[in-house]
Amino acid sequence: MTILVLHGPNLNLLGQREPEIYGRQTLAEIDREIVQLGIELGLSVETFQSNHEGALIDRLHLSINDGTSGLLINPAGLTHTSVALRDAIAALKVPVVEVHLSNIHGREPFRQHSFISPVATGVICGFGHHSYLLALRAVLARLN
Ligand code: DQA
Repeated sequence: MTILVLHGPNLNLLGQREPEIYGRQTLAEIDREIVQLGIELGLSVETFQSNHEGALIDRLHLSINDGTSGLLINPAGLTHTSVALRDAIAALKVPVVEVHLSNIHGREPFRQHSFISPVATGVICGFGHHSYLLALRAVLARLN
């Protein structure tokens, strides 16, 4: 089974960007960890980051017919703004885990609302890079 992992805007700057909130690991290091856990769990993992809403939506559309079995998505700032991304996720038939490094519910009021959560299978936030690893286990549990 192949799991698609999408990272939204500014996550390419992980490691340098507000490390006290998002941690010191780079996106490449996080991706390697997810791929490694995937190997241990018998899952193939594909990762994609974009700073562009449309590119993320195009990748989601591709996932409908490319054999993707499940999705992890950290929509980053688009979590709080994007009806279009929400609509693209609502079109999927596979389990979707919304992931955040930080606990968005304990942060500024504008981060406490997610357009994505109502159309996700579940949400994992607040565990730094471990959020992605927990999400990978969660999506596998749902698939099993
Ligand atoms: C984030 C939280 C968002 O509010 C923020 O815009 C991000 C990262 C997180 O992983 O904690 O870019 O999604």
